[in-house]
Amino acid sequence: MFVIDKLNVLTKDTSKEILKDFSLTIKPGEIHAIMGPNGVGKSTLSKVIMHHPDYIITNGTITYNNKILNDLTTDEIARSGVYLLMQDPSIIDGVSNSEALRTALKERGSNDTNLYTFISKMKKEIDSLSLPKDTMHRGINKGLSGGERKKNEVLGLKLLEPSFIILDELDSGLDVDSLKIVAKNINDYLKVNKDTSVLIITHYSRVLDLIKPDFVHQMEDGKIIKTGDITLAKQIEKTGYNGVNEVESSENHE
Ligand SMILES: Nc1ncnc2c1ncn2[C@@H]1O[C@H](COP(=O)(O)OP(=O)(O)OP(=O)(O)O)[C@@H](O)[C@H]1O
Ligand SMILES: [Mg+2]
Repeated sequence: MFVIDKLNVLTKDTSKEILKDFSLTIKPGEIHAIMGPNGVGKSTLSKVIMHHPDYIITNGTITYNNKILNDLTTDEIARSGVYLLMQDPSIIDGVSNSEALRTALKERGSNDTNLYTFISKMKKEIDSLSLPKDTMHRGINKGLSGGERKKNEVLGLKLLEPSFIILDELDSGLDVDSLKIVAKNINDYLKVNKDTSVLIITHYSRVLDLIKPDFVHQMEDGKIIKTGDITLAKQIEKTGYNGVNEVESSENHE
């Protein structure tokens, strides 16, 4: 169970308040989506979960499987099973993809770190994601296109086998066919790992047509202001955020 309880977050440099009493509970196996206008704090939320140093939690808790994550380091959070697929994955030269992933697996005490087993699994996943064959030996995301970098993050996900996945704008940079490939890979993973929970941050319902959410949340002013199902996502797409809020307020006055 993943629980965020009344979380308040400021930026470290400018003390700008981004999350305000933000609360969200995700049970094992559930898929939740968050939608919200640009700059509302969606990526900040995902970074704060991973303990990004640019942000300060002034109040509230993030709890995963009864363990408070607030003061854990990013690698401790990752080792507890949380995986963030970033909106804009960074390039890290000098460490190859295979070295980084195998080391991370070893750290987790996985049985899959035998070189032969690991390499065969990595090759298979690289193929199923239609990534360039030499991805394994390249520096992390080095020389990969924007879409390939997103796929490379999914490669990490499939090898590290997290139990809680955050997808920050999965579709950005992916062409229609690549998005389908990536979604199939994630759905295949979820079919086998039924207790894995997912938090999808997205602007468009096309991602949610491929990876189907149990709940859709609308975020505004640093918190969730409305929760529904896929129809909320379709409504937002049709009318925009102001449109959804206007429909809401006119319904309240009827
Ligand atoms: N480290 C920081 N220092 C100063 N301001 C920041 C910092 N990080 C985020 N912000 C600001 O906080 C707000 C929320 O940013 P965030 O990236 O979380 O938005 P978002 O909801 O993910 O938007 P988008 O849909 O465009 O990706 C923005 O106004 C952003 O400029
Ligand atoms: Mg963002």
